[in-house]
Amino acid sequence: MSFEPRSIPVDPDAKGALASKGLDYRLIDPSDTEALDGWIDADHRGFHHARPREVTREYERRVMGERRLHGVFDPGVPDPDVPVATVSSWPTGLSVPGGRSVDGWAVSSVTVSPTHRRRGIARAMMEAELRAAEHAGAAVAMLTVTEATIYGRYGYAPAARAATIEIDRRRAKWNGPSAPGRVHFVEPAALRDAAAAISRRAVARTPGEIDRWAGILDRMLGLVDPESDASRALRAIRYDDEHGQPQGFAAFRVTREPNEPGWAEFDVFAAATDDAERALWRVLVEQDFVTGVRGRLRSVDEPIEWLLEDPRAVRVVDVTDHLWVRIVDAAAALGARRYGAAGELVLDIDDPLGYAAGRYTLLASADGRAVVHVPRSDGSTDAASATASNSTAAPKRERSRARAAGSEGSGSRAAARAAEPRSLKLDVRDLASIYLGGVRPSVLARAGRITASSNGALELADRMFASTRAPHLSIWF
Ligand SMILES: CC(C)(COP(=O)(O)OP(=O)(O)OC[C@H]1O[C@@H](n2cnc3c(N)ncnc32)[C@H](O)[C@@H]1OP(=O)(O)O)[C@@H](O)C(=O)NCCC(=O)NCCS
Repeated sequence: MSFEPRSIPVDPDAKGALASKGLDYRLIDPSDTEALDGWIDADHRGFHHARPREVTREYERRVMGERRLHGVFDPGVPDPDVPVATVSSWPTGLSVPGGRSVDGWAVSSVTVSPTHRRRGIARAMMEAELRAAEHAGAAVAMLTVTEATIYGRYGYAPAARAATIEIDRRRAKWNGPSAPGRVHFVEPAALRDAAAAISRRAVARTPGEIDRWAGILDRMLGLVDPESDASRALRAIRYDDEHGQPQGFAAFRVTREPNEPGWAEFDVFAAATDDAERALWRVLVEQDFVTGVRGRLRSVDEPIEWLLEDPRAVRVVDVTDHLWVRIVDAAAALGARRYGAAGELVLDIDDPLGYAAGRYTLLASADGRAVVHVPRSDGSTDAASATASNSTAAPKRERSRARAAGSEGSGSRAAARAAEPRSLKLDVRDLASIYLGGVRPSVLARAGRITASSNGALELADRMFASTRAPHLSIWF
């Protein structure tokens, strides 16, 4: 999705709502270093981070300079150039089942100073971000969250979970196949280019991953502040296949008390092939002089337990919601992914904020492609094709409304008018949760969240929304 995020004007509703409280909501010009630094300071303070060192500040300037940054300013505070609230956003692809990507809008850096909390600042900013996502033509908005109770009110819901996995070194006897290539230690700085290419392929094959932004690998590989203790402790490994092509990498640190075996800990692991995935795991779990290996932000569906003689060597110690998704344009989002089974399913979506509300007919064919029909007022339908993820940046809510209100359509109406279709009634948050295949619709029906017209409808929905690979996001953003 190529789109200049700063081309969207400042949201007038948010500006007006905050102005009525004596606050100024405005876009930060990244070429204004003083303003950018004030925003960076507020962001660090908001997340209770230490004040940034100069190297970190330079890195943040580089990364944040590519994003759409808003600050909320209070002229009455002693340092009025430091905003009392921050938010950043940018357009980015989200991988969806079937090796496809949907246009998304990432939201991050949501902070409100404790001196200004619970005055509706976060609400004004979050609602403005949804309007920006729509303006940008994104089918979904997404974020990772510090607390799970904040974002449901805006239509976000957990869509991909992440796990912390611990492997007991003493019990970790490998019984998986040997990979044909080799794993090497490499210096993190030398890994940067290969890591970028590997990450792109790893992201593409994993629903729930988002496109990596320029600079993220510097952070992951300890290159932002290479002289810091944390960076110097980082060890990087790379898997090269039998042809010498890099296919995967990981970076870990061993943390230990003096004279004690330590723990090898990692949250950087990317594999473009299954061979690479196995080979990296093997080197990580077969290290000597460690008590165990701890992987963070791992998939809930890691193969490691099936690669060891003793599956009890593996403990999943924490599973948490990680990626939260908000469906902004249901037709585009539904049309972008591939489906696990052929079938016709009607989705009656309730969305209190209006973006995705409506009745959509999903027609998936045996190859997993789908056409999404939105009914017209005369009872016929309009089709949004499966290529919706490549659509233009026109405001989608208008398009969806236009379809619902009776614009010209082109789809196979006969199919949509066939015998009484199976249907689900669901909230926009439930759609977000089933969208990537992270939870089965029948589980949400058991939870009383989704209502199905029949058991057959639920079975069909389970099969259609299934993903062969569990959705997984392996970074924070
Ligand atoms: C979370 C945070 C952004 C909320 O800002 P805020 O301006 O106080 O929020 P608002 O006044 O706009 O409240 C919006 C709604 O969210 C709710 N809310 C706010 N913070 C909440 C929290 N921590 N937990 C649960 N609900 C919360 C409010 O009750 C309100 O609900 P309502 O509108 O339905 O009545 C702010 O507390 C903060 O900066 N926290 C530290 C950083 C952080 O956690 N950021 C989130 C990153 S994912």
